[in-house]
Amino acid sequence: VRQDYEEVSAWTAHYIKERINQFQPSKERPFVLGLPTGSSPVGTYHRLSEFCKSGELSFKHVVTFNMDEYVGIPRNHRESYYTFMYTHLFQHIDILPENIHVLDGNAPDLEEECRRYEATILAHGGIEMFLGGIGPDGHIAFNEPGSSLTSRTRVKTLAYETIIANARFFDGDITKVPKLALTVGVATVMDAREVCIIITGAHKSIALAKCVEEGVNHMWTVSAIQMHPKGLIVCDEDATLEL
Ligand code: GLP
Repeated sequence: VRQDYEEVSAWTAHYIKERINQFQPSKERPFVLGLPTGSSPVGTYHRLSEFCKSGELSFKHVVTFNMDEYVGIPRNHRESYYTFMYTHLFQHIDILPENIHVLDGNAPDLEEECRRYEATILAHGGIEMFLGGIGPDGHIAFNEPGSSLTSRTRVKTLAYETIIANARFFDGDITKVPKLALTVGVATVMDAREVCIIITGAHKSIALAKCVEEGVNHMWTVSAIQMHPKGLIVCDEDATLEL
């Protein structure tokens, strides 16, 4: 638990930096990092970019896999997760373009795209660390309430609450919000050797309480972290209101 969003971001960025540097990644043995979008990781990405500029961290031998992507909006759309990642992280660090993996929400065969993504993760030896955020309903990536805890990368219909929550990014117009997304599954996230979830703000306090004080439950998909041998939640004081 840290004081506020700024301190959560500083702590998380420092932790990721230490983990990557301790790993001593190389071309033959890269560090495989799973990444989220959303406002939760923005402060962390900003600090990781600063570490990169000051030479304390390099992404040259880091391979990334993003959690999710909307279906049906162009990659260069300002709200695509692809664009988000370049804006907030990739354009500020020394990552090699071929090491960046983002699901293609415009693939001609979406199911094949999801299978390909899982196979690519496996071909890289799995994910070393998955960083994540959650929705106020406890969803991780786009694993909306009710998603199987054994789910893998797939096409998902967005919950009405998520569409409403995301309308602010689409001129406040829910008709403009994509209704489908591609997302890694709960099991895809939990297969990572380490899972680190950022939870900040009072609006996420119920989700945090459900996640850590109640049983593992597919209606609050982030609760699967209770079963993880190396699961970590970094939260601020506001998020602990219901604990
Ligand atoms: C979307 C993303 C999630 C993210 C969530 C919360 O639903 N698919 O990965 O965790 O938004 O976003 P924020 O961090 O802005 O609260």
